[in-house]
Amino acid sequence: MINTSTPYKAADERYDNPDIFMRCGNSGVLLPKVSLGFWHNFGADAPFERSRAITRYAFDHGITHFDLANNYGPPNGSAEETMGRLMNEDFRPYRDELFIATKAGYEMWPGPYGNWGSRKYLMASLDQSLKRMNLEYVDLFYSHRYDPNTPLEETLQALADIVRAGKALYIGISRWPLEALKFANDYLRRQNIPILIYQGRLNMLDREPQEEGILDYCAENGIGFISFSPLAQGLLTDRYLNDIPTDSRMSRNKSLKPESLTPELLAKLRRLNDIAAQRGESLAAMALAWILEQKGVTSVLVGASSVEQLATNMQSIHSAPFSEELLNIL
Ligand SMILES: NC(=O)c1ccc[n+]([C@@H]2O[C@H](COP(=O)([O-])OP(=O)(O)OC[C@H]3O[C@@H](n4cnc5c(N)ncnc54)[C@H](OP(=O)(O)O)[C@@H]3O)[C@@H](O)[C@H]2O)c1
Repeated sequence: MINTSTPYKAADERYDNPDIFMRCGNSGVLLPKVSLGFWHNFGADAPFERSRAITRYAFDHGITHFDLANNYGPPNGSAEETMGRLMNEDFRPYRDELFIATKAGYEMWPGPYGNWGSRKYLMASLDQSLKRMNLEYVDLFYSHRYDPNTPLEETLQALADIVRAGKALYIGISRWPLEALKFANDYLRRQNIPILIYQGRLNMLDREPQEEGILDYCAENGIGFISFSPLAQGLLTDRYLNDIPTDSRMSRNKSLKPESLTPELLAKLRRLNDIAAQRGESLAAMALAWILEQKGVTSVLVGASSVEQLATNMQSIHSAPFSEELLNIL
C-alpha cells in the first residue's frame, strides 16, 4: 500500500521486521539488508511523485539507508535535489532514523577541481551535496572511485578531515582496487576513523569483488560490504526475458546497452528464472538473496523504478537458504 498521508507520517510498523537489519562490519551501525540507491529514477527526469512513493514505501518498510552521489540525476546533482525536497516535505522529522550516503569521485563540474580525488574537489563537492540535500551532515561519505594520479594520502586525509569537521559521520570507499583499499584501511585506522563500508559491484553475473579478494579482505578487517547494481541493472529480473520494454533502462539509458543482452546471456537468465520459479520466488528476489548469502555482505543496494519492484526486491530478505548443490551451479 502506498502511503499518501499529508503531511507524511511514517508507518508505525516500520521496524516490526527485525530480520531486515545486519551489522555493518564490526561497527556500531546496523543497515537494512536491502538499501535504496538513487542513481537512476530520482533525477529531474523522473516524476517526483513516483520518487516520493518509492522512498516512502522504503522507509515505511524499514529501509533506512538511501545511497546518493553528487553526479546522480540526470542532470548531475538532481537526485540530491530530489532528496532535499523529500527531506523538507516528508523526512525531516525522521532525520535521525535515516542513514544517508553521498559520494564524490566522478566528473561533477568543469575544470580541474570538479573530478577525481583531490582534497579541493572532495571538500567542495560535499558542501554542495549538503546544500542540495538540505542536510547539515551525511551519515556516510564515499570516495566514489580510485584516482591513480592523486596521492592516496591526500584523498584519505580529506576524508578524515571531513569526519572531524562533522560533515560526515563515517567514511566509505567505492571501487578501489584491493591494494589501495588495504592502504586506505591502514591509513584511516591510524587516524581512528575506520572505513565503515566498501561499495562494489557484486551480483550473479559479476563476481569481481569476490574473485579479487575484496570481500574476504572486508570480512577479515571488520569493514562492511554493500553491493551496487545487484540486479545487473535489471538483467537479473524478468524485465528482459521476452523483449526489451520501451520503459526499461535498456531502452531509455545508455548505462545498460542492448548489445549486452546476447543470446547466451538470455539463455542463462531464462535458466536462472526457472530455478527461481522452482524455489517459488522471482528471479529478482533470488538474485538478491544469493548476494546476501555471501560471507561478508552487509546489504544490497537496489534501484527501483516502481514501488512494486521495490516490494519484490524486499522479498529477498525472506528467501529460503540455498543448498550447497544449488550454490555450486549458480
Ligand atoms: N559506487 C558506484 O560506482 C555505483 C555504481 C552504480 C550504482 N551504484 C549504486 O547502486 C544503486 C543500484 O544500482 P542499479 O540501479 O544499477 O541497481 P539494480 O538493482 O541492479 O538495477 C535497478 C534496475 O533494475 C530494474 N529492477 C529493479 N528491481 C526490479 C524488479 N523487481 N523487477 C524488474 N525489474 C527490476 C529497474 O529497471 P527499469 O528502470 O528498467 O525498471 C531498476 O531501475 C544505485 O542507485 C547507486 O546508489 C553505485
